[in-house]
Amino acid sequence: MLNLNSCIYLDNSATSRFKPRKVIRAVEKEIKRSANAGRGSHKESVRALMKIEECRDTVRNITFDGNVVFTKSCTEALNLAIFGLYKGGEIITSVYEHNSVLRPIERLKSRGALVSYLHSPTNVIEPNMIARKINKNTALVVLQEMSNVTGNIQPIEDIGSLLENYGIPFIVDCAQSLGHLKTNYSKVSALCAPAHKGLHGVQGTGFLTFKKGLDILPLICGGTGTDSATLTQPKVAPEGYEAGTLNTPGIAGLKEGIDFTYKHFNVIEKRINHLSIMLLEGLKSIKGIKLYSNAPNGVIAFNIGNMSSTDVADVLDQNYGICVRAGVHCAPLLHRKMGTLVQGAVRASMGYNNVESDIENLLDAVIDIAKNH
Ligand code: ALA
Repeated sequence: MLNLNSCIYLDNSATSRFKPRKVIRAVEKEIKRSANAGRGSHKESVRALMKIEECRDTVRNITFDGNVVFTKSCTEALNLAIFGLYKGGEIITSVYEHNSVLRPIERLKSRGALVSYLHSPTNVIEPNMIARKINKNTALVVLQEMSNVTGNIQPIEDIGSLLENYGIPFIVDCAQSLGHLKTNYSKVSALCAPAHKGLHGVQGTGFLTFKKGLDILPLICGGTGTDSATLTQPKVAPEGYEAGTLNTPGIAGLKEGIDFTYKHFNVIEKRINHLSIMLLEGLKSIKGIKLYSNAPNGVIAFNIGNMSSTDVADVLDQNYGICVRAGVHCAPLLHRKMGTLVQGAVRASMGYNNVESDIENLLDAVIDIAKNH
């Protein structure tokens, strides 16, 4: 059986490997002290609710002063924001997006929405590119902050300022960036993120922060613990958007994960930056490597000649004990643009768990595989 402790984990963009002790303890404590937040007035229910509210405040501190709604994932948060905000008109997005943005938008397109997919030779969506696309029907702009394939970053602050001037809602997918970048999100209308990546929380938890006063239709209808005699879903934040029992253990863990991440922010970033530069430079020096990333943001995609990325990832896993992600990373339009829709790409993504020897081992393995290719 694979000894997980002996594997070199370089798949932190899928989920971060390192979880702070306080996160694990908080999750365990809430499992052992299970109570349903907001579904009773007894002291254990109130205690669970206060835990959740504490995390809501913490999320507000790292995003902006808006309504914070907990979801099961960043994907669910994006679906809530996109379907909940869209009331007709044109949508501007980019080819760099993940399927959690593309698929909801394509569904709206199949119902008649007009969609513009932006891209640029530098892979950066400049505000003036958006300005050129805006017309009287533009209803929504949805962009990611950091690519989950290449680590490329979009200028969210500048785009937010532009869209604020036009009064156009701006949804940002921070799946890969939150916990890694210190962006000012004050001009963003709705921000979506998972707990289990850069914030070092656990899987099964995500959130949406949206501007107070923004008209969003709830995605899921059901029990909220409030207004229970009414048959219509309350459009009151947060509870109207959180039908069903919340993941209190995951949310308690998220609070600790955020505290840890922002306390050690500079150390984490310095490490990821250093390891990324090591990997980028190392890959550039190996003959036959095709590199798709150039920024040291901890997400690096490459291929070994024309070898299938899945084959490379399998060899890395089975022969070298190195975990990476291959394929198209749920970002088909970007892979089409890169010419890798069939081959996919090998993605190594770094986290707080990684050390220099992990990168040295990966580079040695790539040299070996390339030699025998
Ligand atoms: N979206 C995650 C990734 O890029 C799961 O791997």
